[in-house]
Amino acid sequence: PAGTFYGLQTLRKAIAPDSTRSFNVAYPAAHIYDKPRFPYRGAHFDTARHFFAPDSVKIFIDMLALHNINTFHWHLTDDQGWRIEIKKYPELTRVGSVRGETLTGHHHTSSEYDKTPHGGYYTQKQIREIVKYAADRYITVIPEIELPGHAVAALTSYPWLGCKGEGYEVRRRWGISKEVFCPGKETTFEFIEKVLTEVLALFPSKLIHIGGDECPKTEWEKCPACQARIKQLGIKADGQHSAEQFLQSYVTARVQKFLNDHGRRIIGWDEVLEGELAEGATVMSWRGTEGGIKASAMGFDVIMTPNTYCYFDYYQSEDQDKEPFGIGGFLPWDKVYSYEPLEGLNDSQQKHILGVQANLWTEYVATPEHLEYMLLPRMNALSEVQWCEPENKDIERFKAAMEAESFKIFDILGYNYRKF
Ligand code: ACM
Ligand code: ZN
Repeated sequence: PAGTFYGLQTLRKAIAPDSTRSFNVAYPAAHIYDKPRFPYRGAHFDTARHFFAPDSVKIFIDMLALHNINTFHWHLTDDQGWRIEIKKYPELTRVGSVRGETLTGHHHTSSEYDKTPHGGYYTQKQIREIVKYAADRYITVIPEIELPGHAVAALTSYPWLGCKGEGYEVRRRWGISKEVFCPGKETTFEFIEKVLTEVLALFPSKLIHIGGDECPKTEWEKCPACQARIKQLGIKADGQHSAEQFLQSYVTARVQKFLNDHGRRIIGWDEVLEGELAEGATVMSWRGTEGGIKASAMGFDVIMTPNTYCYFDYYQSEDQDKEPFGIGGFLPWDKVYSYEPLEGLNDSQQKHILGVQANLWTEYVATPEHLEYMLLPRMNALSEVQWCEPENKDIERFKAAMEAESFKIFDILGYNYRKF
């Protein structure tokens, strides 16, 4: 069925539509033999930094379907907002889904705020609908519940989840918070397991994303409960990693065991490699390709999503003044197209590269129009990296087809996109 669906997408893209929506065109008789290069073809969408209504999430899914992308990695929780209804913990959405205001300007330089509350969350009913909407398009939704870092919205809702136990506020600015979940307390794990129990009931995906990135250890160093845990476990720093880094490995392993016991597997950002990582985890390489190269050599499955080729929040022009305000970087469509995910990997490593994914972080992306602009046409370029064997890639053919077909389809569908 998925193959039939992809065949229909090929037909959609191969017939040049005209603006009157008339599809009365001559189409040459042909056989098309086609198959994907990678089994995992993903796109990530951060709905925590800015909330996007369910209809926008569905449009995002439509775009994935058009590009034969089969995995939607849904970033649902972060410092600036908790976006998934959890019945056992109503404060997560009552308190944690709203921030008082939002930074304007860049977080490296600005201290101005918009004085406007920002919030929103998905009810479990809406999530079920979205998961079904995706499944109807042969797309698996992988939910991401961030831990142990990027948790300030949860800590604000239930302050006992943090080391200090008080004084938290859903973050109004971007960047990394030193306030993270406290793994010294059993109540934190009870919370995580109860949250995940509801998450598992909503998302049939085998892989569950547990975050793992950007978790400062400064609070753990000072926290009596965390230090007692380190002592109780007999954790010792080695030459490479601090005791607190191993404490994060302990968190990862505990959550991994819980999910494995429930028939699921973890996927985490490449920081989960620091310290120890138990067998069966999948690693998402985002700080370049280094994490993916290392993880695949260690025998872990890998999703390649290096910021250098796959971060769709980066600028699409070197002249930033010509573009909507953004986080930084420079990632034009042709650089995305040029990405070769297996480069530098030996045969056994290559077998562990399940696929490639683009990440769309939304600190500086607040509207559906801007979202579409960041995705298109870079998503088209990415989809050839995900689907085509290298010998079938051809940037001139791609560019011509974009102009002749895809841009017309975007126009008809009403998508905002960046022109070449
Ligand atoms: C990430 O971009 N922090 C995974
Ligand atoms: Zn602690």
